[in-house]
Amino acid sequence: MRVAGPVARAEQAIVSAGLGHRAGTQVGSFFDALPAGAGGYVLSGVLHDWDDDDALRILRRCADAASETGKVLVVDHIGDAQSGTPDTEGDLRMLCHVRGRERTLDQLGELAESPGLEVSSLTPAGSRSIIELRPSH
Ligand SMILES: C[S@@+](CC[C@H](N)C(=O)[O-])C[C@H]1O[C@@H](n2cnc3c(N)ncnc32)[C@H](O)[C@@H]1O
Repeated sequence: MRVAGPVARAEQAIVSAGLGHRAGTQVGSFFDALPAGAGGYVLSGVLHDWDDDDALRILRRCADAASETGKVLVVDHIGDAQSGTPDTEGDLRMLCHVRGRERTLDQLGELAESPGLEVSSLTPAGSRSIIELRPSH
């Protein structure tokens, strides 16, 4: 079946990376229930587009789907993780453009608390960071 748009491109990228046996694609919204039981749920450049209420709704969908065994990987600009210094320029940009925000690691950790997630690791990735969230139990 041919699927238009981002899903078709994602499918193509997965197959050409030789990962067709490990990953699949599905049309949907992260505000709705997500496919359950995956090993990981990646939110790349997503949470910073949204205010805290909507970011929380997205995280809750991921936490519900990830359950006890999956992880949620947030890829965003979080400023200086060591000092907690925010990315103020990016934060203002996101606020003006889409009413979103760039969050510090602490702010992301606080947001993740109520869906039952906690920061488990941080990996620098160029100008962004990959923050791994796991169920806090
Ligand atoms: C800033 S882009 C991030 C693109 C890419 N993932 C990256 O890391 O650069 C935000 C993405 O969220 C997608 N998006 C917006 N609303 C969505 C929704 N309700 N469900 C799923 N994806 C959505 C947009 O289509 C867009 O691709």
